[in-house]
Amino acid sequence: MASKYPNPAHTAIADLEKRLKPQGRRVVVVTQNIDGLHKAAGSENIIELHGNLFVTRCTKCGDVCQNKDSPICPALAGKGEPNPGAVDAKVPIEQLPTCKQDNCKGLLRPHVVWFGENLDTKVLKNAEEELSKCDLCLVVGTSSVVYPAAMFAPQVAKRGVPVAEFNIEETPATSSFGFMFKGPAGENLPIALADGHSQQATV
Ligand SMILES: NC(=O)c1ccc[n+]([C@@H]2O[C@H](COP(=O)([O-])OP(=O)(O)OC[C@H]3O[C@@H](n4cnc5c(N)ncnc54)[C@H](O)[C@@H]3O)[C@@H](O)[C@H]2O)c1
Ligand SMILES: [Zn+2]
Repeated sequence: MASKYPNPAHTAIADLEKRLKPQGRRVVVVTQNIDGLHKAAGSENIIELHGNLFVTRCTKCGDVCQNKDSPICPALAGKGEPNPGAVDAKVPIEQLPTCKQDNCKGLLRPHVVWFGENLDTKVLKNAEEELSKCDLCLVVGTSSVVYPAAMFAPQVAKRGVPVAEFNIEETPATSSFGFMFKGPAGENLPIALADGHSQQATV
């Protein structure tokens, strides 16, 4: 994942945020992705519902810290294996990455929400607050089936706020939204958010 770069959709969103800021208007990205690509594209207001793979959390003191080391420690070099049936790499515990806070030495874990874990309530509340006051909502590249994220945009639409979906296909939520831009977000978002259009729109 460290070798991946933002696509034109990430860039269009980041550019929009920069362009609207001097007008006192805010763009907030609420994402389920953990790849950090919105930040890499230049977005500043980002709510990462599932955390970020390039951030560690200490399992002892809870310290949260950016960490882009790859591998995260020498013992894990070449041990990446995403398949569920992978054999245990049997890395000795003393060779795993540990917390750098004074005398802590707790084991570090990725600051992401694994399957079966709950979302951080503060992060969720933050997202809900932003969604309750936004006056335009773009739903990009999600099947809108995984909750709680799946309920965000339909709730915004219920307030009478314009919601536009960008997806290569219709989703179970499409009928709740006023607008659907069918096609790759990397092609359609840069056009929809191009300078000139957004200056006049209410965002
Ligand atoms: N749901 C989770 O728990 C979770 C956790 C971590 C990360 N994520 C990430 O968040 C994103 C959204 O999650 P999800 O559960 O809706 O994923 P999903 O795989 O269920 O849905 C992806 C959606 O993106 C659409 N899509 C694919 N290519 C597209 C393109 N080029 N332009 C526009 N739309 C496109 C697909 O039609 C589909 O509706 C995914 O990238 C996923 O990897 C999700
Ligand atoms: Zn610690």
